[in-house]
Amino acid sequence: MKKVLLTLSTLALLASTAEARTWADIKQSGTIKIATEGAFPPFNLMKGNQLTGFEVDLANALAKGMGLKVQWVTQPFDNLLIGLNQDRYDFVIASHGITPERQKAVDFSSPHYCTGGAIVTRPGGPLTAAALKGKKVGVQVGTTYLENVNKVPGVGEVKTYPKDTDAQAALMAGRVDAWVGDKFTGLDVVKAQKGKLVQGDLLFNERIAMAVKKGNSSLLGQLNAALATAMKNGTYAKISKQYFGQDVRCR
Ligand code: ARG
Repeated sequence: MKKVLLTLSTLALLASTAEARTWADIKQSGTIKIATEGAFPPFNLMKGNQLTGFEVDLANALAKGMGLKVQWVTQPFDNLLIGLNQDRYDFVIASHGITPERQKAVDFSSPHYCTGGAIVTRPGGPLTAAALKGKKVGVQVGTTYLENVNKVPGVGEVKTYPKDTDAQAALMAGRVDAWVGDKFTGLDVVKAQKGKLVQGDLLFNERIAMAVKKGNSSLLGQLNAALATAMKNGTYAKISKQYFGQDVRCR
């Protein structure tokens, strides 16, 4: 909990006084700079040296719709919103849940998908919030999983990892009793582990959105318009079905 608060107050402090690039600046340059983590399958990941995933394909489609080329930047998850406030890139798409704390630091687009945080464990492990009592739980640092697991009454030690995949590895190795992560990621991981892991209850729901620097309303308006178009013309549905076998937009 302390770590979360520290990171967010740091964010506020680091909000640079320099101006973020407006839509007019970006349009004129012809290239938009987008940041993600690149370590959060199936949303954003590296395949060899190729950045891919649902959010990468979606953002590339949005940029195309806006008539722009894309320059991708990858950063550890915990640094993404800080770099945004330092004007290192124009927007972030990295599965950020819209939370009141984050809304103090950045502006969010309309949600680009809806999901939730779910428990994954080894067979026989804790499957419910109540069963997490006294248990060791692994989560990625700086996430809503951390925030929500900390709220579970009586939860044992909560261990944070730089990457979500590190928390999954800790569960596989038996260093934690459960991992809490995205419900879609959990489904994929459980499937890939063929019986070595099982998915438990959903702990919370969240709306996931792209982030722009606070006050960059011209860019935000264009992003929201591009997303609405993609949701209307079939582009969004096509990419979503490719990754999830279903349409993951918020309803
Ligand atoms: N949805 C969670 C959150 O809002 C996790 C996001 C993690 N994203 C990532 N690229 N690792 O905090």
